[in-house]
Amino acid sequence: MQDQINQYTVEIEEFAPANAAQLEEYRIRFLGTKGIVKDLFEQFKAVSPEEKRVLGKVLNQFKQLAEAKYNEFKDGFESEGQNGAADIDLTLPGEGFAVGSRHPLSLVRNEIIDIFKRLGFVVAEGPEIEDDWHNFSALNFPEEHPARDMQDTFFIKKEAGNDIALRTHTSSVQVRMMEQGKPPFRAIMPGRVYRNEAISARAHCFFHQVEGLYIDENVSFADLKQTLFHFVTELYGEGTKVRFRPSYFPFTEPSAEMDISCTICKGSGCNMCKYTGWVEILGCGMVDPNVLENCGIDSKKYTGFAFGMGIERIANLKWVIRDLRLFSENDVRFLRQFKTEII
Ligand code: DAH
Repeated sequence: MQDQINQYTVEIEEFAPANAAQLEEYRIRFLGTKGIVKDLFEQFKAVSPEEKRVLGKVLNQFKQLAEAKYNEFKDGFESEGQNGAADIDLTLPGEGFAVGSRHPLSLVRNEIIDIFKRLGFVVAEGPEIEDDWHNFSALNFPEEHPARDMQDTFFIKKEAGNDIALRTHTSSVQVRMMEQGKPPFRAIMPGRVYRNEAISARAHCFFHQVEGLYIDENVSFADLKQTLFHFVTELYGEGTKVRFRPSYFPFTEPSAEMDISCTICKGSGCNMCKYTGWVEILGCGMVDPNVLENCGIDSKKYTGFAFGMGIERIANLKWVIRDLRLFSENDVRFLRQFKTEII
């Protein structure tokens, strides 16, 4: 028996498990209910009393050694799975950390703001819930005038002469700006606007605009043209052509719509420009003297221009987004396609 114990002692001392499975094998072999330690104690019962005195001590030390070895490794392997392989494989590549990206409309809005900031324009904002005066009357929309029907309005409160509505355009911010300050004004006004339209791929009940206003002494239509030409060259690159078509807005006189050479086909004709080579990007004009007077500005001394563009439209010309609804559905499969920009 002594020999057996000596042999096992050597085995235990040399034992160095590589994983939890080997340690478990060891436990069963030495410490299990049918294991070696148990077996030796069984045999011990049969030895003579003289031998027992010596062997008893040896056997107890052996048992402690077997247990100590097991405990030594037990903690180290505790987090391992059944198969003995470590749960954490440090050689695996790390899990991807998804960084959010700017919404495409924010990207475009920021780009527009940057271009105009470099020209000395400041950024201004106004409320989305507007009164009749700021959204219509001050902008030279007479009451009952059919021009009011150009934009289907969501009314919040109908009250003769003082309707409250969701603003239909950012032009209302021009009025607030001119009422509150003194010329010269040079500002752009981004924001959300609302119109009572059935939602489809091509129309939505809310969208985004950027309004521009420049009022000073001796501002001419040439200033308007050059400013907007500079803007589209910055936005779409050198070689972008522009053309102005006469148009009508109650708050500008003369009024125009500006087209640029199609950003997709560069003018050769495609689906986006309906094979005309041109796409409309904004409305503009010289601020009507009536509007200046409505806002307390001397129209004999000051002149100026204004313009308004849809952000969705600009984004569409950049990325060809066929369905307007994508902008407000927040489907990450759509959103994560746009370049990440952390400001
Ligand atoms: N407010 C117009 C619209 O929503 C856009 C617009 C046209 C704004 C001409 C202007 C402008 O400032 O001069 O359709």
